[in-house]
Amino acid sequence: MEAIVINHYGDAKQFETATLPVPEVGAHELQIAIHATAINPFDCQLRQGRHQESYPFHFPITLGSDFAGVVQAVGTDVTAFKVGDAVMGTLPPTREGTYAEVLTTHGKTIIHKPAQLSFTTAAALPLAGITALQALRDHLKLQAGEHILINAAAGGVGHLAVQLAAQTGAIIAVTGSPDRTDFLKQLGATTVIDYHDTRLADVIHDYDAALDLAASADLDELAACLKSGGRIMSLTKPLPEAWLQQNQLTGRQIWSKPNATDLATVTDLVANGNLTVTVSRTLPFSELGLNIAHRLSEAGHTQGKLVVQMIAD
Ligand SMILES: NC(=O)c1ccc[n+]([C@@H]2O[C@H](COP(=O)([O-])OP(=O)(O)OC[C@H]3O[C@@H](n4cnc5c(N)ncnc54)[C@H](OP(=O)(O)O)[C@@H]3O)[C@@H](O)[C@H]2O)c1
Repeated sequence: MEAIVINHYGDAKQFETATLPVPEVGAHELQIAIHATAINPFDCQLRQGRHQESYPFHFPITLGSDFAGVVQAVGTDVTAFKVGDAVMGTLPPTREGTYAEVLTTHGKTIIHKPAQLSFTTAAALPLAGITALQALRDHLKLQAGEHILINAAAGGVGHLAVQLAAQTGAIIAVTGSPDRTDFLKQLGATTVIDYHDTRLADVIHDYDAALDLAASADLDELAACLKSGGRIMSLTKPLPEAWLQQNQLTGRQIWSKPNATDLATVTDLVANGNLTVTVSRTLPFSELGLNIAHRLSEAGHTQGKLVVQMIAD
C-alpha cells in the first residue's frame, strides 16, 4: 500500500511516498481502505518533532488520526463490522497513521458512517467533534443561559464548539478575523471580536466560561472577560494554579479522550442536520497535497477543516 510518511522531523517538505506492506489483520482488528483523512494541528506538531518525548516513534512515521473509509477485512473476533461497511473514526497517536491507503486497527474508536455523511465530512469530524463536545459538556459543564467566550472559533474545533454551545442555549462571544464574522454568526455566535486589534475586555465582561483554543492567547486578557468564580478550559496550554487563584477562576488544560460513544453523538447530530462540518479545502493524497495542507494548517487561519482525499466522494 502507498503511505505518505516522514523520515525526519522538520517542515512540511518532509513528506515522502512509501510503499509499505499491508499488515496482517489481528483477531480484534479491522482493515480499512481509507477514502479521506483530515488534518489536525497535532499532526503538524508531531511532524515538527514537538512531541518526541511523549511519543518516541521510530521512522518512517505515518501521521494522521482522523479517517473515513470502507472495511476490506475483519479479524476473526470482530462482530460489529463486516467487509464493505463504511466506517469513520480517529486513532490515538501511533506511528501508523491515516496518511495511507490502508489502515489496520482495533475497532475501539470506530463507528459506522451514516449514509448522509460523505467520506470527506466523516473524516473531518472525529477529533474536532469529540474535542468540542467533551470540552463544553464534560469540562466546562456549560448550561443554558450562560455566557461563554470561545477563543479561536473559526477553526476545526471552534466552529463545532460554537454550534454545540448554541444548542445548549448559551450566549456566545467568539474571537475571529473580520472575514470570518458572517461564518461565525451563522454558526450561532452573537458577538464576534476581531482579536487582531481589540481588547476582549473592552467588549465583554462578567462571562461565565471561556474555552481557549489559541496557543498564542494572552491568558490575562481572557481572565479579564470572566466573572469572579468563572470557568476556563484551555486545549492549548497549562493554566497555572496561582494564576487561577489570583483571578478567582477554576479551570485547567484539557485533552480530548476519543471514544466511540462521543463520536456517535456528534455524528448523529451531523446526520440529523443539527451540526454542520465545514470543510474549507480538500487536497489530493500526494506529497504536495500534504505539504500544502500542513502549511495551510500551520498558517493558523483554517476555516473549519482541511481534508485530504484518497478517493473522491
Ligand atoms: N488538547 C486536545 O485534546 C486538543 C484536541 C484538539 C485540538 N487541540 C488544540 O486546539 C487548538 C485548536 O485546534 P483546531 O483544530 O481548532 O485548530 P485550527 O483549525 O488550526 O484553528 C484555526 C483557527 O484558529 C484561529 N486563530 C489563530 N490564532 C488565533 C488567535 N490568536 N486568536 C483567535 N483565533 C485565532 C483562526 O482564526 P481566524 O481564521 O479567524 O484568524 C483559525 O480559524 C490547536 O492548538 C490544537 O492543537 C487540542
